[in-house]
Formats: sequence, structure tokens, C-alpha cells
Amino acid sequence: MSETEIKSIQWFPGHMAKTRKSIKENLSLVDAVVEIIDARIPLSSQNPEMGRMTAGKPRLLVLNKRDMADNNATDKWISYFRSQGVVAVSMDCKSGKGLKSFTSALEQQLLKDLIEMRKAKGMVGAPIRVMVVGIPNVGKSSFINRMSGSKKAKVEDRPGVTRTKQWVKLGDKIEMLDMPGVLWPKFDDQKAAQNLAFTGAIKDDILDIETLAMLLLELLAQNYPQCLKERYKMDVSDLQGKDLLKLLGRKRGMLISGGEVNTERAAIMLLDEFRAGKIGNITLEFPDTQG
Ligand code: G4P
Repeated sequence: MSETEIKSIQWFPGHMAKTRKSIKENLSLVDAVVEIIDARIPLSSQNPEMGRMTAGKPRLLVLNKRDMADNNATDKWISYFRSQGVVAVSMDCKSGKGLKSFTSALEQQLLKDLIEMRKAKGMVGAPIRVMVVGIPNVGKSSFINRMSGSKKAKVEDRPGVTRTKQWVKLGDKIEMLDMPGVLWPKFDDQKAAQNLAFTGAIKDDILDIETLAMLLLELLAQNYPQCLKERYKMDVSDLQGKDLLKLLGRKRGMLISGGEVNTERAAIMLLDEFRAGKIGNITLEFPDTQG
């Protein structure tokens, strides 16, 4: 195994099969699927089977945590998804910015035809039903709480609907199906697994912490050198790998006896600060580098 190779992550096949089954079984109850993803890693934070599992249903991508991502990159991603025929909006569930664009994308783009057809048939007021899915940590619960005005609606009994899932009302127009079960991330793809570890979506013990921090520093040095300069006074030109981490530790005075840098402490600090959004508005993957 190479130094940067991801150790296998445990995701129980039994749980995956259950979630897959639950999505399939409930698909007929909804008009559309809303997948919440992380705007900093819009590809890596998608579930690898979502397209296949929800085939035939209109799908809306919500790029959440926009406040932590690079605005330019988020706009490029939205255009990129649109060029692929996928409706996408961005949002910040922490402040609630972007909630209106979600509703209008749903009503005026994704389900426009369906809503018009219902109107023509006299089905005025029939709620739009959506299934909300997302891998852990993308902000699925924050999204649902925001959209429902922080008051989680009561569980409703409907024929064929068990108590293990919840319909959450968003005013009179939209009902969201909050699915039980955990959706697994793209852990078979090494780059994606790294990105998920950087953001804290999967445990960082998939790699040793120093390797993870070095990989993140290299990405930051390549795409956001000004952020490293501003936060850590680091001039990163020509530096790579461990040298970057050593410089970071030195800049923060993280030394051990003999003047050596405590690279483990530096690595932990970097990842903590990145995850807390302290280094700046940063996106880790870009549409123009996708084949
Ligand atoms: P999940 O259901 O998909 O697992 O995610 P959840 O809503 O629990 O959100 C995971 C973390 O991401 C939470 O932080 C949440 O506050 C944060 N979060 C969600 N949406 C946004 C967003 O748009 N912007 C930012 N900046 N953060 C967001 P936490 O540290 O785990 O908890 P806490 O800070 O809420 O206590």
C-alpha cells in the first residue's frame, strides 16, 4: 500500500442494501429527489449510485455550505451541472441563504411540467413531494430544519407509510420525505475519499493525519496560496509535502526539543482550522479539471 493510499473504510454492506431498498421502495411516493451535497466537493460528496437508484425521477442538486466554498467555483459548478442537464442550486443552511432559489428551482424548473399538468387536471394545491438524500455531514438535517422553519413537522400516518420515515411539511406546497438509513459516500475513489476526509465527512483515520494534512496543504498551495499567506504567513512557492507541513508548524511555533517541528500537531491544527472554515472560502475540486 502506498503512503497515500486510502485504507479501506468500513461501510456495512447490510446497511447499504437496506438504504438502497428503502430508496427504491419510496421512490414512487415522491415527485423528485433532492440530493444535498457539499459545495466544496460537489463530486466527491455525491453518492456513487444516486443516478442509478433514482433513475426516472427528476433530481435537484443542492450545493450546501456555500458560505465555506469559493463563490466563483460554486457558480462554475452550477453552470457545469446545468450544462449536463442537471438542475442545481447553492445554499447556506447556516444562515438560510438560498432557500428561495431552492423552492423556485423546484417549482419553476424541475417540476414545472408536472405542476402545470396537475393544474390542468384541476389538482390545484396538491403538494409537491420530494425525497431528501445525502451522505453524512453534508447538512441534510440542517437543510430539513431550515426548510421546515426549524419545527420538524409531526410524523404523519399515511397508507403504506411506516413510522420509520418522516414527512416534513414546508408550508402547504412542499412535503419532504426524510429518509431513514445512511447513504454511503464514494469511498472506492481515492481522490474522493481524500476530499471527504479533508472536510471531515469521513473519519480521518483512513490516512495517517500527517499525510492527510500534507495532501491538503499541497492542494491549498496550488489553488489558494493567498489564503495560506494570509492566515499562516506562509510563502509556499516551490515547497511540497512534508516541507509544507514543517513550514506551517514552524510558523505556528510548534517545535519540539532540538528545534524540530511537531508535524503531528501542525497537521491536526491545519485540519481543524480548515474544517472550521478559518483558512478562507475554499473549494477542493473544480469542474474544469473534470474529464
Ligand atoms: P447531516 O444531517 O447531513 O449529517 O449534516 P448536519 O445537518 O448535521 O450538518 C453537519 C455539520 O455541518 C453541522 O456542523 C452543521 O451545523 C454544518 N452545516 C450544515 N449546513 C451548513 C452550511 O450551509 N454552512 C456551514 N458553514 N455549516 C453547515 P457541526 O459542527 O457538526 O455541528 P454544529 O456546528 O451545528 O453544532
